[in-house]
Amino acid sequence: MKHLLKLQDLSADEILEVLNLADQLKYEKKNGIAHPHLQGKSLGMIFAKASTRTRVSFEVGMYDLGGQALFLSADDMQIGRGEPVSDTARVLSRYLDGIMIRTFDQAEVENLADFGDISIINGLTDYAHPCQVLADLMTIREHKGYLKGLKLCYVGDGNNMANSLIAGGIKMGLRVACACPKEHEPDAALMKWAAENGDFLCTEDVLKAAEGADVLYTDVWASMGQEKEAEQRRKDFAGYQINDSVLAAAAPGAMVLHCLPAHREEEITAKVFEEHAGEIFDQAENRLHAQKAVMVLCMKNTEGTKGTSDR
Ligand code: CP
Ligand code: NVA
Repeated sequence: MKHLLKLQDLSADEILEVLNLADQLKYEKKNGIAHPHLQGKSLGMIFAKASTRTRVSFEVGMYDLGGQALFLSADDMQIGRGEPVSDTARVLSRYLDGIMIRTFDQAEVENLADFGDISIINGLTDYAHPCQVLADLMTIREHKGYLKGLKLCYVGDGNNMANSLIAGGIKMGLRVACACPKEHEPDAALMKWAAENGDFLCTEDVLKAAEGADVLYTDVWASMGQEKEAEQRRKDFAGYQINDSVLAAAAPGAMVLHCLPAHREEEITAKVFEEHAGEIFDQAENRLHAQKAVMVLCMKNTEGTKGTSDR
């Protein structure tokens, strides 16, 4: 595994390898066992959108692994003033061992991987949030003991989170049900793939999607970049909320997850959020462990690739 651009690119075995290494790195960190797998390596972190968890967990993760992380705000880089991604990738390939990028367009992330020689990790685009879903799968396995056959129900916007949950969930043998309003469904091609490759349902009926679910998951109604649509979206998504009635339709002992940040009383009630805060903050913590595993698997073999790109 050289890049993490979207979960569709990974095999089930590769996802499993990430989850297993993440568990090991978590154990080692909790027990004070050093794991400097990326000593002397540098990760550039390009952010064109805000972040709390992604920024801090990548930066601390790189420190734990013996390397360094550089925070690069897209607004302060020439990329923000129109320097082509292809040039940026070829330049950064001469300095760095990997790039984590958070931006709008998935194509920008794919272009970085095409033009540079170094590992590219998608830290969220409008299309996908693969790092988050690796941490989510880690958290589900940690709490339930296994993944295959569990039912995951996603309620809300068919956005980056929905897309990555569908890809990662189906790859790992979960049954995935999405409840999304019309016009806000997940990516059509991905839904077709999911229906052909696993147990997948997308419906407008929240209670139907939640029926017997082992894991309930939601995300904000208005994502970063959609701030101007927030008022309309509050109307479109009314009822697409994880609350006591939705929880009652789920399996007994169902987990509730949220990638955060959360908007209480919109996509989730404050009551359900607080009752499941232990799971939700384990999930946030696991960003660190899962991403460390991703960085090790992507970047451990980068020795000697620096400065070789001249396409
Ligand atoms: N869940 C997530 O990616 O959080 P941040 O936006 O804070 O990085
Ligand atoms: N869908 C949200 C996820 C944030 C982690 C967004 O893109 O803003």
